[in-house]
Amino acid sequence: MTAMTEAATPGPNASTIHTIRVWDPLVRVFHWGLVAAFSLAWLTADEVQPVHELAGYTVAGLVAFRVVWGLVGGRYARFARFLASPRRTLAYLGDMRRGTERRYIGHNPAGAAMIVALLVTLSGTALTGWLMDEPARLAMASDLPRVVAPAWADDDGDGDDGDEDGHAPAEHSEADGLLKEVHETLATLMLVLAALHVGGVVLASVRHHENLARAMVTGEKRAPGPDDIA
Ligand code: HEM
Ligand code: HEM
Repeated sequence: MTAMTEAATPGPNASTIHTIRVWDPLVRVFHWGLVAAFSLAWLTADEVQPVHELAGYTVAGLVAFRVVWGLVGGRYARFARFLASPRRTLAYLGDMRRGTERRYIGHNPAGAAMIVALLVTLSGTALTGWLMDEPARLAMASDLPRVVAPAWADDDGDGDDGDEDGHAPAEHSEADGLLKEVHETLATLMLVLAALHVGGVVLASVRHHENLARAMVTGEKRAPGPDDIA
């Protein structure tokens, strides 16, 4: 959908700027919903655990939606349209360094790589949170090796993997500790990626004289010029 609309800038020398619809409503709701749910998950972590988990599951649901939408959505939402090879991404980064990168109407190759990094890291954060939340899920995961080597799994031969007092097996709490560490590391990595993402948005906005954050609200961007990549 690239229907062209006109927006008049007010003033005596009013000029007419042609804009096109780039981000569909679902991409926009996804984006700002994700920002809200991710922020809430961060703010409530270790503070209000039920809200934290709900926010984390919301992030997971939004990411799952975006993966599906990336396969079946419209022109600018589709992964096949905006994902670039590492070679093209590096070439684009080189152009950025020289200040000669072209304007993309959809996601540019560097932005696209960042989107993949954000979606993968968010999935990993939500997955480790989910595993950590339920000892039974963790037990399933750590029982896997036993399926392969059942004879050596239970050394004391009592058919029970816990200690004498019935406490959870040490390996479970070890795995729990490891999961917690991975969960927190991924969450911290997300902060770094989000900061780089916003930095990239600001940089591209300045370079191409357009407010990309506003475009993610309205869905509209300046129509492509002759040198732009539509
Ligand atoms: C207030 C801070 C933020 C602003 C202003 C912002 C702005 C934007 C803009 C302008 C785009 C489109 C980029 C382009 O033109 O190619 C975008 C895309 C995206 N942003 Fe953000 N962003 C923010 C925070 C975040 C955070 C915190 C996350 C992750 C939790 C995030 C995840 C994404 C994703 C996944 C996309 C791809 C959108 C799609 O195609 O569905 N953003 N963002
Ligand atoms: C994807 C978004 C998520 C983010 C950004 C996130 C972030 C965090 C952070 C930063 C912590 C460390 C808190 C601290 O100890 O200081 C944490 C802990 C935790 N998170 Fe998440 N999380 C997310 C999703 C989830 C989900 C989906 C679940 C489970 C349903 C979950 C369950 C937990 C648990 C159980 C802890 C340990 C709390 C504790 O005992 O200290 N998280 N999370």
